[in-house]
Amino acid sequence: AMAEKGNHRHFMQKEIYEQPEVVGRTLSAYVDAEAGRIRPVEGIDFAGMSRLLVVGCGTASYAGLIAEYWFEAMAGLPVDNDIASEFRYRDPAFLPGDAALFISQSGETADTLEALRLCKAAGLKTIALVNTPHSSMAREADVVVPTLAGPEVGVASTKAFTCQLAALASLAVLAASQRGKLSPEAVEAEVASLMAIPAQMNAALAIEQEIDQLATELAHASIVLYLGRNVFFPLALEGALKLKEISYIHAEGYAAGELKHGPIALIEDDVAVVAIAPHDALFAKTRSSIQEVRARGARVIAITDKAGADELDSEASAILKLPDVKGLAAPIVAATAVQLLAYYVAVHKGTDVDQPRNLAKSVTVE
Ligand code: G6P
Repeated sequence: AMAEKGNHRHFMQKEIYEQPEVVGRTLSAYVDAEAGRIRPVEGIDFAGMSRLLVVGCGTASYAGLIAEYWFEAMAGLPVDNDIASEFRYRDPAFLPGDAALFISQSGETADTLEALRLCKAAGLKTIALVNTPHSSMAREADVVVPTLAGPEVGVASTKAFTCQLAALASLAVLAASQRGKLSPEAVEAEVASLMAIPAQMNAALAIEQEIDQLATELAHASIVLYLGRNVFFPLALEGALKLKEISYIHAEGYAAGELKHGPIALIEDDVAVVAIAPHDALFAKTRSSIQEVRARGARVIAITDKAGADELDSEASAILKLPDVKGLAAPIVAATAVQLLAYYVAVHKGTDVDQPRNLAKSVTVE
């Protein structure tokens, strides 16, 4: 059946609002909520794995970057991340015990598919995290792990991304448990926090009107710099990608710690900074980046939580307050804010949100 926009102005908006539902559905494919554990995946043995290679393009590659933080910190599983177009042409070196995970909404992106074929030919176990069950990647990989986002029409990926994160978060908990890094009680606690994500995303989506208002101003920025640390660094990359794709404003994502190694030179009055700064262990560090760019004239939008908002009150130009969420859920919930921000800037600029110029939904020809 043809996908319909329903009450929404654009498919992208509809897909942003579908996220609590489809993320919940995707989580259910992995999480056994009653037993308080993640179901093992046939064909994946995280205990026997020495390294996980993670490969994708665009938004899917940013989901993989976030997963790298999770797999390494929670499961002690070394991860090597790469974008498919680089991976496939750089003669990658492998280790015994390597497995390779390919992330793709369509399952058809040419570079990611070729990267999968390369790993398969090298004898690695290949795992495809795809949203399209009958795709080439799903057919060719040794193991398929699904996202259940349903058809995504907007060229700028939204719900596929958060479903990828939901699946990857579940797999990170599974890996941690299989590798002896989480006790059954700790797994149960992680499972409970995973299951809380859809409701938290709903709460986050309720700040739509504030974002709409902020976006009227942001639409006049000449450059928008997104900053974050840890998992919010890849989310900063994703925020910048969304904004540039649909609003055509020059946007860049940077690790907040790299600010002084270049991007601070760009800061002047018509530059806006979106700082993703939840009140976590690295908050003080991101806060000092906010102070530095503010002192140089940037307008700063802080995406944070209640505790962060209290501290940033007099320092940021505007604050978007998300529900208080820690751990695996945090970047998934915060993703809704960066998506809505890009969406409303594009709406204010009057661009073709669902069909941005020069871009394709799926790049099946190199
Ligand atoms: C294109 C799309 C992006 C997507 C990327 C990877 O660039 O516009 O939204 O993230 O391809 O696509 P895939 O289907 O492999 O996830």
